[in-house]
Amino acid sequence: MGGPRIQVVEDTDALSRAGADLLAGSIAAIPGARVVVATGHTPMATYAELAERRRSGLFDPAAMSVLQLDEYLGLEPGDRRSLYGWMQRSFLGPMGIAEDRVARLPVEGDLDAACAGFDQMIDSRGGLDLAILGLGLNGHLGFNEPPADRSAPTRVVDLSPVTIAANARYWGSVGAVPTKAVTIGMRQLLSARAIVMVVSGEGKRAIVHRSLEGSVGPDVPASFLQVVDSGVTVIVDRAAWGEG
Ligand code: GLP
Repeated sequence: MGGPRIQVVEDTDALSRAGADLLAGSIAAIPGARVVVATGHTPMATYAELAERRRSGLFDPAAMSVLQLDEYLGLEPGDRRSLYGWMQRSFLGPMGIAEDRVARLPVEGDLDAACAGFDQMIDSRGGLDLAILGLGLNGHLGFNEPPADRSAPTRVVDLSPVTIAANARYWGSVGAVPTKAVTIGMRQLLSARAIVMVVSGEGKRAIVHRSLEGSVGPDVPASFLQVVDSGVTVIVDRAAWGEG
């Protein structure tokens, strides 16, 4: 088991290079890799760096397939603020990944049944190869808001006040942020063959240490990264990690 490998880098530029190195290597190592791709601010420079490497012929994402990590509920189709739209602009488009190689989370109809079907689809394909994740201020992974047990399935969740406040910058005000979302569950994420979590900025200092060094349990979903069998790498910049 051994616990997560923690790679502390000096700044956000170094984080994007280290992230791109790791992701390009992991994706190249598994032809047809099934990869969960987080949105959020932190991985954006890493995706831009990967796209640059693709343009230079240094990275070939042609064989990979992508799964959506999380999504707001209650949006109009085509809303630019959807996380799918963000993933399209930041990852799918720049990587040249067509929609038929993307598994989108359900956002309408019988969501309980559709979420169960999503987990079954992942299981039937042999699980996830790689999960690219960020870290929420409350220790969430995707939108697995605390408390979230390690076996939590893909499901509908109520967003917590802290998550709503953190995402208000994308919506103009706290009151405009959707209150419900759907997320790939903890069970699938923690079973991925490799997990890469990127963490940046002083505001994440307390939660990254709590997640990686504190007690393990549902109150801090990311703390389960300490005890999974898969290879977990956390790339964290100096501002988030501190001098320790
Ligand atoms: C959001 C998303 C997560 C993301 C996290 C961190 O709420 N649901 O998938 O990883 O928060 O985001 P950021 O990288 O912007 O700090």
